[in-house]
Amino acid sequence: MALVKISQILEGKCTEQKVTVRGWVYRKREGKALIFLVIRDSTGVIQSTIKKDSPCWNDAQKLTIESSLILTGTAREDTRAPGGFEIGAEAIETVGLAENFPISKDKSEEFIRDMRHLWLRSRKMNLVMKVRAEVLEAAREYFKKQTFTEVSPPMFISAAVEGGSTLFALKYFEQELYLTQSSQLYLEILMYSLENVYCIAPSFRAEKSRTIRHLTEYWHMEGEWAFADMNDLMAFEEGLMAHICQTVAAKCEKEFKELGADIEKVKAVKTPFPRITYKEAIQRLKPKNPALDWGADLGYEDEKVLAEDFGKPFFVYDYPTAIKAFYCKTYKDHPEVAMSVDMMVPRIGEISTGGAREDNKDLLIQRMKEQGLKPEDYEWYLDLRRYGTVPHVGFGMGLERLLVWMLDLENIIDAIPFPRTTRRFYP
Ligand code: 4AD
Ligand code: MG
Repeated sequence: MALVKISQILEGKCTEQKVTVRGWVYRKREGKALIFLVIRDSTGVIQSTIKKDSPCWNDAQKLTIESSLILTGTAREDTRAPGGFEIGAEAIETVGLAENFPISKDKSEEFIRDMRHLWLRSRKMNLVMKVRAEVLEAAREYFKKQTFTEVSPPMFISAAVEGGSTLFALKYFEQELYLTQSSQLYLEILMYSLENVYCIAPSFRAEKSRTIRHLTEYWHMEGEWAFADMNDLMAFEEGLMAHICQTVAAKCEKEFKELGADIEKVKAVKTPFPRITYKEAIQRLKPKNPALDWGADLGYEDEKVLAEDFGKPFFVYDYPTAIKAFYCKTYKDHPEVAMSVDMMVPRIGEISTGGAREDNKDLLIQRMKEQGLKPEDYEWYLDLRRYGTVPHVGFGMGLERLLVWMLDLENIIDAIPFPRTTRRFYP
């Protein structure tokens, strides 16, 4: 008798063998002479049948949805069973008998969201979390291959990165601190030691918009490296994206299928990506949005329209300086344009922003003042330009936005186990 995972049975590796599985009751159907128990573990779900004359009939009868159990029986192929296999149960050990489980098919979306701590056991969330883990692993693999060192920046910070309107302030003993909106400035510090650095860490945004692409806490994959320009940046980012897509598509076929997500669009992601300038984006959008002029920020709707044209990931670069953060480097002979680039995908629009950083101390101070920031709040950041400044680039990609696109999720809250939004922070 072998202790096995449900996936091993479903892969046909235990057929006609005596097996033991440990898991939870996922569904139950009781007939006069037969009980069907669908059992789940971390790897999948399988049906088991209990006959009236079986010694475990009484145990099976008492079992409730989400009770934990250890079940022993014979694994067999059965075309009638979902997944094509089942276990003929011979012994059941009830580990934890569940009370009446609150989640059932007839419950509203809202109710299910309030029961997040229990809903994370669902097939959907189980599969999304597995793909999420593979995306993280593939990202790390790519950074490592490109000789990047993973670093751990702080989450408590003393000066804004991305502007005051989305900054979370908090009381830190006797003073005010903030939750970081991006680890970029800290990556810039570490770059002077390690050259190619990255982190995968939470970022926080006091974001009131309720859209399918906004959370107040999200996971941010950010990289920063020295002696590089915009072309290096776009080449790196598309390489990362293609590597994640190819790796995850190869490893997660089963997950995509069960989630009903279109894996073909992910498999189709190959370098190079189309690149258009912001100026060209405005020209393309103008017929549909006549009010859109050079200088305006692209809204979600604009980005979606652009992305529909391409039908796959692409870049928009060279944005107006006035709508970009203080650290963006500008072109010497036309400083109204900043070296900033967004990666966009269909349905979501922007999934990453990156660019070249202003490496000249005086220009940087000028940009800070233009944006109403106090250079004295950024003394340490200016020091980086005082001591051995170097041209450098970096970017940040939102992990959940990437997952929403890859897995065709309806809402970003399903891309993260414990979503934080204006209204949701429980548990
Ligand atoms: O465009 P953002 O604000 O750029 C930065 O933070 C740069 N400092 C990154 C860098 O250069 N290191 O954010 C980067 C990405 C966005 O493109 C988006 O994918 C994600 O972070 N993002 C969010 N994801 C979920 N919810 C939100 N509220 C997000 N805000 C940004
Ligand atoms: Mg951005």
